[in-house]
Amino acid sequence: MGDTPALKPLEINNITIPNRIVFPAVQTNFATREGFVTERLLRMYGKIAHGGCGLIIAGCIAVSDDGAPSTNVLRINSDKHIASLKELFAIIRENGAVPAAQLMHAGRQTLSAMTGHSLVAPSAIPCPVMKETPLELDNSGIKRIQGDFAKAAGRAKKAGAELIELHGAFGYLIGGFLSPYSNKRTDEYGTDKALFFTEIIEKVKTKVGETPVSCRISADEFVDGGLTLDETGKIAPRLVKAGADVISVGAGTYASMNHMAPTMDMGEGVHVHLAKGIRDSVDAPVICAGNIRSMSYANDIISGKKADLVAICRPQVADPFFVKKSINNESVVQCTDCGTCLFFLHGASAVSCPQNPEL
Ligand SMILES: Cc1cc2nc3c(=O)[nH]c(=O)nc-3n(C[C@H](O)[C@H](O)[C@H](O)COP(=O)(O)O)c2cc1C
Ligand code: SF4
Repeated sequence: MGDTPALKPLEINNITIPNRIVFPAVQTNFATREGFVTERLLRMYGKIAHGGCGLIIAGCIAVSDDGAPSTNVLRINSDKHIASLKELFAIIRENGAVPAAQLMHAGRQTLSAMTGHSLVAPSAIPCPVMKETPLELDNSGIKRIQGDFAKAAGRAKKAGAELIELHGAFGYLIGGFLSPYSNKRTDEYGTDKALFFTEIIEKVKTKVGETPVSCRISADEFVDGGLTLDETGKIAPRLVKAGADVISVGAGTYASMNHMAPTMDMGEGVHVHLAKGIRDSVDAPVICAGNIRSMSYANDIISGKKADLVAICRPQVADPFFVKKSINNESVVQCTDCGTCLFFLHGASAVSCPQNPEL
């Protein structure tokens, strides 16, 4: 591949990402019930880092017990989790990639049977997929969870994360506040739907200083009454003004799950136009994702100035050495788009991949 655009390093604040390929956050359900790192997670992330990926965003990692999206997700809601995450970020760094942490609260897109707590959301409207009615957060609940994000970011940095990602995409709690589809509040968090997120970013920045903060958003939710690029093109600059150093562009919510992890028949780079639209609205690097399945296409995206970093998820699940093999013109084990890794859609307990049985 030689001197190709996707292999150029990128500096963001105090870090240098060795190339433009990102392994984005993946909810594996490989953690312990208490949210600690397991040998399986160390093996998975160690291999992908060794495989040549530049930035690895570990997670998702729940900031509060009532915000866990599933049973065995990573957690960062207490200092007890720092030592365990330290091992995870260390193995990523030792294998050559920049380690990052995706922090999230699931909001209404989980179940109280999984969290052991009532669900909370901007408004008491159930997610059409999970179907459980959440409690509407009051002001003190809002402040508690914003504080949880800030404390979690401080812990992630202490554990060695070199970039913090705040999960504002896919209709989880932050995304739920951003969207008129799920936020029907009449207070200041409803009249200004970005306020919940911008306050979190400001609080997180005071905890992590120069450490770059990425904000993941659904640039289009693909639901009636939800966010489209018209709105998110205005929200993104506000996130940057509040302190975001990177915007990561995804799409969809649980009610439009096919956009969260698009199938191949939706087309290569199905959301690249959204990343380009957001990139045109901000002065910050943008990550794009969704059906980007070759290094040559990643190069086209970077050289075409449609995004600055390219997230390649399932192809690196199927073959953790995707990047190095592509650079060396070796054949990669292909992701077949079988959907097995989307374990939550078919009652499995955790991610698995027939193309990579050792995952
Ligand atoms: C099994 C699975 C779990 C995922 N979990 C998360 C998650 O926790 N946080 C997140 O932001 N995105 C999550 N995603 C979305 C991916 O980060 C990525 O955006 C999506 O798979 C599209 O990229 P791809 O076409 O390269 O797979 C998940 C995707 C898959 C397949
Ligand atoms: S489980 Fe199927 S869809 Fe998921 S990464 Fe593996 S081959 Fe691709």
